Amino acid sequence: MPEQSGALSRLERTLRTHAAQLWASRAQAEREAGVRLHRLAERLRHVGATDEVIELTLAAARDEERHAELCDELCARSGGRHGERAASVPEELAPAGLRERERVLYDVVALACLQETLSATLLGAMVERATEPRARAVLAAIQRDEARHSRFGWLHLSRATGDESHDVIGMHLPFMLRRVLEESLLRPDATENAELAHLGALDARERERLCLATARRVVLTGLERHGVDTSAGERWLELRAALAARR
Ligand SMILES: [Fe+2]
Ligand SMILES: [Fe+2]
Repeated sequence: MPEQSGALSRLERTLRTHAAQLWASRAQAEREAGVRLHRLAERLRHVGATDEVIELTLAAARDEERHAELCDELCARSGGRHGERAASVPEELAPAGLRERERVLYDVVALACLQETLSATLLGAMVERATEPRARAVLAAIQRDEARHSRFGWLHLSRATGDESHDVIGMHLPFMLRRVLEESLLRPDATENAELAHLGALDARERERLCLATARRVVLTGLERHGVDTSAGERWLELRAALAARR
């Protein structure tokens, strides 16, 4: 019997360690998002974006910092250390060769219209899966904020004048989708441990399915409505979905 309870407590300890790692990695992602959004608000100011767009961007950045603290708290509850600084994130997502206004528009679409929309979808699925009450409450609170964060992107896009900027977005959609999906939301370390389903963990296959479907149904449809030619992005998503189906 003592042996059995020893094994059980080892199992519990391992589970707690994994839970702490999960919340630490979620906190890190939130901090990175906050850093990017703060920087983006500065760049929006430089290119003369409206006060409303800048305010919404800063409000989203502040939300991300709060989200990181909520994740820290859950990390600590599982015995983990928290409060680590955000890893350095690349200055920009835009490809080389664009003018400053185009670079800012590109990053706004990549971070707000695409990444925030997909994050809100993933969080919605995490809330549905989570059964542990505090985890579920925290994920639901974060999801409510994330669902609002894409707004500044659509607003800035709707004010971008001239077809030229829209062409830049349409032309670079495959590059944008690949960077946001493969280097962020679907990167291997974003995959969550299946034994932590009670904390809303999503496995790689589920994350990919949700991201690809939402990118097409919500993001590309929205961009099309704003006058962006999304055909290159559609083709990229079709190819990626076909590859995923063969795995
Ligand atoms: Fe967040
Ligand atoms: Fe967000």
